[in-house]
This record gives sequence, C-alpha cells and structure tokens, in this order.
Amino acid sequence: MTPKLIDPFHRAINYLRVSVTDRCDFRCVYCMSENMTFLPKKELLTLEELDRMCSTFIGLGVEKLRITGGEPLVRRDIMTFFHGMTRHLEAGTLKELTLTTNGSQLERFADDLWAAGVRRVNISLDTLDDEKFARVTRWGRLPQVMKGIDAAQRAGMRVKINTVALKGFNEDELFTLAEWCAERDMDLTWIEVMPMGDLGNEDRIGQYWSLKDLRAQLAERYTVTDLLERSGGPARYVRLEETGQKIGFITPLTHNFCESCNRVRLTCTGELYMCLGQEDQADLRKPMRDHPDTNEPLVAAIEAAIGRKPKGHDFDYSRQRADGQVSRHMSHTGG
Ligand code: 5AD
Ligand code: SF4
Repeated sequence: MTPKLIDPFHRAINYLRVSVTDRCDFRCVYCMSENMTFLPKKELLTLEELDRMCSTFIGLGVEKLRITGGEPLVRRDIMTFFHGMTRHLEAGTLKELTLTTNGSQLERFADDLWAAGVRRVNISLDTLDDEKFARVTRWGRLPQVMKGIDAAQRAGMRVKINTVALKGFNEDELFTLAEWCAERDMDLTWIEVMPMGDLGNEDRIGQYWSLKDLRAQLAERYTVTDLLERSGGPARYVRLEETGQKIGFITPLTHNFCESCNRVRLTCTGELYMCLGQEDQADLRKPMRDHPDTNEPLVAAIEAAIGRKPKGHDFDYSRQRADGQVSRHMSHTGG
C-alpha cells in the first residue's frame, strides 16, 4: 500500500501510539504526584470513539498501534477495544498491536490479549527489590507484577522490560537486571529519566543518571559493542559480547533519531501530538464528535496535523518553559 500520511520531511507516518486513559494504579515518583487529579470521564474518548479513531488512522496507512496510558489495562472494558482491533490484524492492514503496561493487570488479561492478537508487550519495571519497588511506584507491589510477567510469557508474548535509569536507586541493579532478563529471554531497555510535569520530586528518587555513564559501567564487566540497527524509534542497542545479550538505551532528550521518526501520539482526550518534545497538538475529538456520520472532517484534521509535524525535538526548552520542563505528564501523552 502506498503510504498516505507523509509529513513535510518525507517521513511516512505508520506508527500511532494511543493513550487510552490518564489513570494508573501506581504513582511512580517520576511520573505522577500522589494526589493526581484525573480527567473527567466525558473528556475521554469512548471505546467506540477510540475504535473509530484508530480505524481511521489504519485506513490512512498506520500499521502499528501501541496502546499506552496511564495504565491502559485499568480502563474499564478495554479488552473490547483490543478485540475490535483484531479485525484490522486479520485484514492485514494492521501489522502489529502492542501495549506498554506496568504489568499489574497482566495476570488477568494476558491470555485475552494474546487472543486479540497481541504478540509483544513492554512492561515497565525499575527494580527487582520488593521494598524499592514499593518506594518507586508508591502503590505498586512487585509480586503482582511478577505474576503478570509470568502470565504474559506463558501466553506466548515476547516481553520487553523498560527500566527508567535512576541515580542512586537502581544503579546497583545494572547487572542483576541484565542477567534476570537474559535468563528469562526478555529484552531490556534503559530509559533516561525525563523532566516531565511539575513534580516536586519529594521522594528524592528520580535523579538523572546518564545512559552514557550506565554504558561505561556495563563496560567495566562486559565487552560492549554498539549496534547500528535501529527499530525506527529512539532506542539504540549495544551487545554484551560475553553473553550475546542486546540491551537498548532510550535517551529521550537527544534528537538524533528525529530524521527517522515514523510516529505520532494520540492522547486519551483525542489530541494528536506530532512530536513528544513539542507542545503543538491537534484536536481530533471535535471533528470526530461533530460528524458522527462521516469521517471526512476527521481525515482532513489528521492530514492537516501531519502536515505540520516538526522536523525534530525542541528539548532545547527555551521556547517551552523557563525551568526546562515539558508541562504535561507522560501519563497524558502516553510515553
Ligand atoms: N522519564 C522517563 N520515563 C518515564 N515514564 C514515565 N515518566 C517518565 C519520566 N519522567 C515511563 C515509564 C514507562 C513509560 C510508560 O513511561 O517508566 O516505562
Ligand atoms: Fe503508572 Fe507508568 Fe506513570 Fe508508573 S510510570 S505511574 S506505572 S503510568
């Protein structure tokens, strides 16, 4: 199929990330404050609207959908939406349906996700220590997530662990996390912590630990080779020669991957963000809600939005906020 969504820099947009809720059952210190106010329900796209929105994007050439949040699996009846997307997988128009989750509900949903066609899942996990896990997630409990990871693997899904690199918090788990992932045949990606939202960081967890430093620490024990392969996204990979294990690094603040950017992000209220590092967004909910019987205004709004996708990140901050933060939370834009 000829790609239909081409941005001004000739990039074909075939990857949509969709946040289906801003809510979460955890309160990770770098992501949310303890007393978050969430959006009123009427602001959210309904499950039917989510289906219509995603189906429209698929009609425009989107081949990969990643469902995020907040925590996507705490959205009521979200499996109805996943099962709705199965028809696009079966038609061959959608090539991949995945999600990013904290794992807390996977024990319950893994088999059903597999049945809906989900073959890969990204699970966020910052530590293998019960006490530290409770401290960083505030409301999360590690055994529950471990059961979720077991269930996902048992169902047949390929699991990738995403770990936020936090100085003085999980530095000492660099090797244990790598070995644990290797033993279980799971991929591991470290993510540099981003200064999102306006968190006071009252827990004093969440200090920046540069991936450059992390790589240097890995190199003290292993022969670390940089791999050239890219997944189209921001991750870079290294291989530990002694074990053959690949480890990913995501440095959100650098913009060295923008030239190959193939993605846009839809918030749970139907705003389309063309770039994670920029504030520009397009309201897609209105053209959809105002026109229940035709998708033409929605398609026009999507095309107009893609037509102004910026060339790259603007984590140069100066044009955003004086304190160098992007003012929205990850749970709003969906990572
Ligand atoms: N910096 C880096 N990653 C973050 N996430 C949430 N907030 C931040 C932040 N400030 C990550 C979670 C999860 C994904 C949904 O986004 O750890 O992997
Ligand atoms: Fe929830 Fe993920 Fe944010 Fe943690 S990082 S509070 S699990 S959305």
